[in-house]
Formats: sequence, structure tokens, C-alpha cells
Amino acid sequence: MQNSISEKEQFEKIPTILYPDADAACTILATEIRELIEARDAEGKKSILGLATGSTPTRLYRELIRLHREGLSFANVITFNLDEYYGLEPDHPESYSRFMREQLFDHINIPKANTHVPDGLVGRHEVFEYCQKYEQKIEDVGGLDLQILGIGRTGHIGFNEPGSSRDSLTRLVNLDALTRRDAARDFLGVENVPRYAITMGVGTILKARKVVLMAWGEGKAEVVASAIQEPPVDSLPASFLQGHPNVRFLVDNSASNALTRVRHPWLVGSVNWNPRNIRKAVTWLSGKVGKPILKLVDEDYSEQGLAELLTEHGPAYELNILVFNDTQHTLTGWPGGKPHSDDTHRPERANPHPKRALIFSPEPQDDLLGLGGTLHRLIDQGHEVTVAYLTSGNLAVPDADAIKATELILDAAEVAGDTETGETRFAHKVQDQLRNKEQFSLDTPEIRRLKGMIRRGEARAACLQCGLPIERIRFLDLPFYEKGRYRQFMPTDDDESVVATLLNVIQPHQVYLTGNLADPSSVQALGFKIVESALNKAKASPWFSDCFLWLYRSADREWNIHELDMSVPLSPDELANKVKGIYQHQTQRNQTPMAGQGGEVWKLAEAADREIACKFDALGLAEYEAIEGFQRHQ
Ligand code: GLP
Repeated sequence: MQNSISEKEQFEKIPTILYPDADAACTILATEIRELIEARDAEGKKSILGLATGSTPTRLYRELIRLHREGLSFANVITFNLDEYYGLEPDHPESYSRFMREQLFDHINIPKANTHVPDGLVGRHEVFEYCQKYEQKIEDVGGLDLQILGIGRTGHIGFNEPGSSRDSLTRLVNLDALTRRDAARDFLGVENVPRYAITMGVGTILKARKVVLMAWGEGKAEVVASAIQEPPVDSLPASFLQGHPNVRFLVDNSASNALTRVRHPWLVGSVNWNPRNIRKAVTWLSGKVGKPILKLVDEDYSEQGLAELLTEHGPAYELNILVFNDTQHTLTGWPGGKPHSDDTHRPERANPHPKRALIFSPEPQDDLLGLGGTLHRLIDQGHEVTVAYLTSGNLAVPDADAIKATELILDAAEVAGDTETGETRFAHKVQDQLRNKEQFSLDTPEIRRLKGMIRRGEARAACLQCGLPIERIRFLDLPFYEKGRYRQFMPTDDDESVVATLLNVIQPHQVYLTGNLADPSSVQALGFKIVESALNKAKASPWFSDCFLWLYRSADREWNIHELDMSVPLSPDELANKVKGIYQHQTQRNQTPMAGQGGEVWKLAEAADREIACKFDALGLAEYEAIEGFQRHQ
């Protein structure tokens, strides 16, 4: 799937290769590393690798471990890690030292003495000298043959936050507020995220003979595009890689979304003018020149680089009408199809009615954020709706809420006059465990059960708010989540079989799912993959041929109008009701990574739905209060 570098990439100042997904990219990079190690071995030399942490390289490390099991030896490999949180013990669950052992070193034959991760515990007074020595050690072994990088949403590489200079070397740095918020989930709260880190400098990285940066998921798309396409600036340290003689970016489809060749391909070269691309270009043009679709004229097209489209499908009048109607036809107040009506231009079929709709929510609350209004509509219109929560979401419940719940159990027991019950013993046990829990240690199974129950209660209250009877809720508690922690989940066939069983029981006419563009290690992306592969296996079942799959998005993922196949308008009351539903997820108010980026999560959901409505309005379509968007998944 490697695209060769051509004039198409004229906007790109760093060679960038697009892959269908992270696994495909990592397989190729791991092979390249194997070849490097083998070539160096043959010369009797060591291979010097610069390594990164975070969720981005985990797939690469899995692949390297696989290659090791097939015979690749790491005995002559020396590694230097980019960075480490300052103040963390090497055994702390979030320390990069531990991460490297768990994700790679413990599974390959690399001598421990050959691995280097900056020491987060070195004293303040020794830090300067320590960092100089780290640099020196890299020099002493002949410099890095290859440096692997991820990228943070601030554009940082290693922990070189905005403001880092091109020449910076290994040093102690302050962490940016956004970086700390992004790490908040791993550290169970932003207040626990260290404020400082030791990191190799931009200059250290640029000295490597080869640099490969990987980026997955839509969340990285904007920063990746800026690093590749904008002039290098210290407010975006990754952009300094533009000056490197042997650098490459590997991105998956969703992380490439903001590159000009993907976002505005007509500015880069010839385009296949299929209906989706036509909609994309015309809605973009409308925004660009600030006119509603039906007022666009030939000159608008030709002056903005769309002459080819005009020649192939023009004149403007024809194109305008085509896109206006296509976009108009996505709008429906009947997400389950309108019975007894002509459905030629409707996103959903009129029949059968009612339909069995199955909504998969990766964690409790994703459903409400993405389709709380549509859920309400479906129920009102008589469809048989089931909401299935793939995971319990227990990792995102603060301890304080668990303590409150235990107190409630004990109070209820007292009211009932029976304080020696199984429930009270459970509550006391959880209280003891919480009291003895070390900071950042994993919750016990009992605490996780209780936290899961808290989220079940919230999910039920939220669904009730949307009119869904609680017996229509399924809590699947997929095992990958119960056994794992953020960024380190490992789904197995057991997860898929839970989903497959449910699909066969419900035999839905509609399935709603989300997470297709998310960071591949997120719960949302893993949930998507699990559901998708269960659906793939169901393809032979008779119900499948009569089933529409609809993709929805959480509040932090913006829709572009051309991407929509179904747009469900919400009235002010429906929007308010959705917000009330989201509000029932009380433990989540400050937990999601989105929270803190401008308010609580319900505000973001409200703003996202209003934003879609504004986009329709600006295109010259009807003006609604808010809209929830969906894309048909083939
Ligand atoms: C941290 C690390 C970086 C990493 C970034 C992105 O800040 N210091 O090296 O690239 O996170 O993390 P992730 O790969 O989890 O998205």
C-alpha cells in the first residue's frame, strides 16, 4: 500500500506514507528494523535504536517481539529511549521505564545493560550533568542509527513541547497543559500527571541517521498536517524534522485526513470525481467563498482550483443542484425509515417497520454523546431499540464515587435493619481495599465491579431519559477491558464471540457503531474492530443482507457535511433532553479527555450538534437547532 512520492505530495515537506491501518505500517517498519539489525550484525557492529513510548509504538513492539520469536536476535542492539516522567519510580505503572520492559525488553533477548531510559529520579542538582552524560553515551556508541517517534497533540516529539529550539539537547522540561490532560486517563486524573520530564532534545533527535515518525487516528490529523506542510516553527517542534535528510512519516488513513492531498485533493492533482468527492469539493467551495451552494457560479469553481470538476460535471448550476439535493436528502426526522412513504431519496428504508435497531456504545455515554437525540426518535417512532455497552467503563470512575456507593449500601442495610449481609460484607471489603490502595495501583476486581455498577446505574438513568426501557439495555462487559488498562488492552476472540452472540439474538435491521477513525489503542477503536469482525462473520446470516450499518461520532469528532449519509435534526427540546441524558453520567463530568478542553463534555456535545446545523444553514439548507450525523458503513 505504499504510495510513491510524486507531484501529489508537493505540499508535503516530509516524505509521508499512508497505510490502511497501523498494523500494516508497523509490519513494514519492523521488517526494516530487522534488516538493519541483520546488516549490522553481519558487519560485526551494534545497532543503535532510539525508542519511543505511548500507544503509538506498541504495535511495532508487538511485531518486533514476533520477529524475535521467529529468530531475530537483539543481543547486539543498544537502545536509548526518548524520555521519562520526572519523579516517577521505574516501577510506577506509568513510568516509561516500566512501559519499555513490559512492552518490549522483557520479551526479547536484549541485554539489560544495552537499554537506556532516562532516570526520572535523578536529583535536581544532578539533572544537568545527567542529561549531558545521556547525550555522551549516545555519541560514544556512534550515534543513533534509527530514531522512532510518535507525536503529541501539541506537536511535541519526545517531550519537546512547543517552544523547544531546534538545537535543544537532553534536558529537564515542563509539560504542556494539553499533554498533561492527554495523559490524565492513564494517571487516573490530571492532578496525578507529573509536571516535568527528562527528554532528548530536538537536536538530539535530528542527529539520528534516520528518523521515522508514526501517527495513528484522527486525533493526530491536524498536528501531522501542520508538521508536514507548514514552515518549521518552534511552536510545533515536530516541524523541525523537515530539515532532516532521512526522515519519513508513517500515517494511517485517519491521521492523514488533514493533509491537503486528502482534504482538498483538487488543489494537488487530478481527482476521481465520484459523488462523494463532488460533494466534498462543492461544500468546501461554498465555505471557502462564503456563499450558499445555490449561489455558486462558474468563476467560483474555476478560481478556486475546481476547473476540472467544472469541465467534467459542470456547469455550476448543475453541480450546485446535484450537491444541494444530495445533501438535502440526507436530512430525515425518521432515522428508522418513514413507514408508508416513498423512500427513494431517504437514507433509511420505509420497510420493515418497526425495525430492530442495535446501538453499540464502546463505553457508557458514547451513545448519548453521539446519538442521544436519534435514540429518542427511534424509540418514539416505535422501533425496537437495544443499547449494548461493550465495556463496563469502570476504569474511568474516581475512587470518591466508589466510596459514596459503599456508604449508600451500608446506609440501606441499616435502614433495612440487617447490617450483616453479603452486600455489607462486600461494601466493607471494598472500603478496606480502597483504603489500602497504593496510588496508581490497579483496582481490585471488587472495586472494578463496584465501579462498573456505578456506571450501569448512570447508563440506565441516561437511557430512561431518552425513553428506553432499562430491560432493553445490555451490558456486555467485554473481557479485554476487564483485564486491561488504558493503552494496553489486548482483545481476543472471546470479545468477538460475545458480540456475535448478541447480533444473532437480536438480528438487527440497523446497527449503530462508532470508533472507526479513533486512535487504534482506544476503547472506541478496539470496540469498533470487535463489532466489525463479528459483523463480518455474520455476513452469511440471512438477517445481515437486510441490515444497514450506521457510523456515529462522539462529541470530539467533527463531521464534515460531505461525509454524512443521514442527518437527524433535533429540536431545541430534543437537544435539551439529550443534554439531560448526558448529565446522568455524573462520574464522567471531569473524566473524559475531552473535558477540560473548553468545558464539560455535555457542552461539547451540544456545541458539536449545533455546529453541524450551522454548517447546513451556511450551505443554504434549512436552519435547524442541532443535527446528529451518521455515515453509512459498507
Ligand atoms: C508522550 C510521549 C511522546 C509520544 C506522545 C504521544 O507525550 N512523550 O513520545 O509520542 O506521548 O502519545 P501516544 O502515542 O500515546 O499518542
